[in-house]
Amino acid sequence: VGIFEDRSNSYSPNIEIESQWLPFSEDVKRFTTQQWLAQPFINGEAIADLPGHAVKAPHDNRITVGEAKFANAELVDKAISVAQEGYTNWSATPVRTRAGALRKLADLLEDNLAELCAICHMEAGKTIQDAIDEVREAVDFCRYYANQAEQHCSHPISLSQLEGANTLWQRQGRGVFVCISPWNFPLAIFLGQISAALAAGNSVIAKPAEQTSLIASRAAELIFEAGVPGNAFCLLPGDGAGVGAPLTSDPRISGVAFTGSTETAQLINRALAKRDTDPVPFIAETGGQNAMIVDSTALPEQVIKDAVLSGFASAGQRCSALRILCVQEDIAERIIELLKGAMAEQVVGDPRLHSTDVGPVIDKEAQAGLLAHIDKMKASTNFIAQSPLPADCEHGTFVAPTAFEIQSIAELGREQFGPIVHLLRYKASQLDKLIDDINATGYGLTLGIHSRNERTASHIESRIRVGNCYINRNQIGAAVGVQPFGGQGLSGTGPKAGGPHYLMRYTQLTPAQETR
Ligand code: NAD
Ligand code: ALA
Repeated sequence: VGIFEDRSNSYSPNIEIESQWLPFSEDVKRFTTQQWLAQPFINGEAIADLPGHAVKAPHDNRITVGEAKFANAELVDKAISVAQEGYTNWSATPVRTRAGALRKLADLLEDNLAELCAICHMEAGKTIQDAIDEVREAVDFCRYYANQAEQHCSHPISLSQLEGANTLWQRQGRGVFVCISPWNFPLAIFLGQISAALAAGNSVIAKPAEQTSLIASRAAELIFEAGVPGNAFCLLPGDGAGVGAPLTSDPRISGVAFTGSTETAQLINRALAKRDTDPVPFIAETGGQNAMIVDSTALPEQVIKDAVLSGFASAGQRCSALRILCVQEDIAERIIELLKGAMAEQVVGDPRLHSTDVGPVIDKEAQAGLLAHIDKMKASTNFIAQSPLPADCEHGTFVAPTAFEIQSIAELGREQFGPIVHLLRYKASQLDKLIDDINATGYGLTLGIHSRNERTASHIESRIRVGNCYINRNQIGAAVGVQPFGGQGLSGTGPKAGGPHYLMRYTQLTPAQETR
């Protein structure tokens, strides 16, 4: 479990200074009128001869952002053959050259920050802060895994001598690694998986989420510009059935890195198990049903600031986002009053505007599912509050941040991936039962704790089964290299992304031939 604690409890002023952002956002604005193209890349060549479909902006579906051309089973077959050949050369490429390409990619991402932020706004509905954070995290992943590869894959590992035995081992790639990513971190997670796999010496076939193939295609161009050979990296935009399923059922692949829903991870797990060939590593980072436990010693204003950010930032579309706000009954009324006030202040709207706190959800399907959950909860539980929607939002896929009071965690089913927080009162005497109920969901991604009683915080930490535990702070956003991120149980297999053990899972140990 990673424990991340903010001991200051301070109300430090927001360090984002308007005057610094505004000139930058003029650059971004210029790009938002551009259109982009998503297409498969195999052997470094774009496959243009395919039907395409228009990609619409989530905040306003009258705006066309570009065209997406999806791969098919035939191209999956071709890409795997190419990547098999590519593996031979890429795995023999010196580690420092591979790491150098990833560092160059990080530089290119920074050079293209304004354009990438514009695609994040227009294709994924990300706000200004989320778009900048997205590119920042992608940059950090590239540099971190480049460093990790140099540290762990450059030199043979010498084990203690046994007579007649080879004691030198080399960490190297496994073969063709398939990287399947979600739309909610369309650049950061997309490139996090790819950079780790490439740094370790694998060739990669990446399948981005069908909702965000434009940014993936633009990133693919930068990957090639950074010096990764066309046969070491193939891009196959497409959906799960058309591209993901044939990729993961192919006997020639050597590993799968997946981030997305628990349900899809289970499908892929079954597909991998059905292959009549060697078992391969399956890295799955999946959903959460994340709680925050607030006891009566917590600072109410700090709780509200952190709960609102954790529940509603990124329109609640973070795997780490707060879903169940558990409040000790003694302070529940005060917390509810403050929550209502804070939610009334949340500005929902155009993600390109500085004033916007909450942008749209990704698409109509997601919007319909979340609105159905809100309707169901309105009929069966106590409604607390809903943030106002802008007047002119009918062309976008907006969902107003909403809070309900529930009586038990069992009322909630699977993860609702949007800006909906469920408040649950608990008695101090029932803290252990509450922890058991949270554990019983089977998910284990993030937990927030708000308490100034160190014994209570330590007690919760020791009983809860989650990957990342955040104390007296918000529970979203994990910094690469210092806050390794990932869950357990239904929330994923590990290893934690952005942590020291992640890259190893993409490697195998073989007898060393020489120092590289
Ligand atoms: P999703 O499961 O619908 O899709 C994820 C990816 O899997 C997409 O690229 C999709 O096309 C692909 N896919 C779908 N069916 C497939 C199949 N049969 N075979 C192979 N690939 C298939 O998830 P999503 O809606 O894109 O993302 C949101 C989910 O991701 C949420 O559940 C969220 O909690 C989770 N998530 C987890 C983390 C984490 O680090 N734990 C991070 C981000 C998102
Ligand atoms: N690292 C992402 C977050 O913490 C998933 O929100």
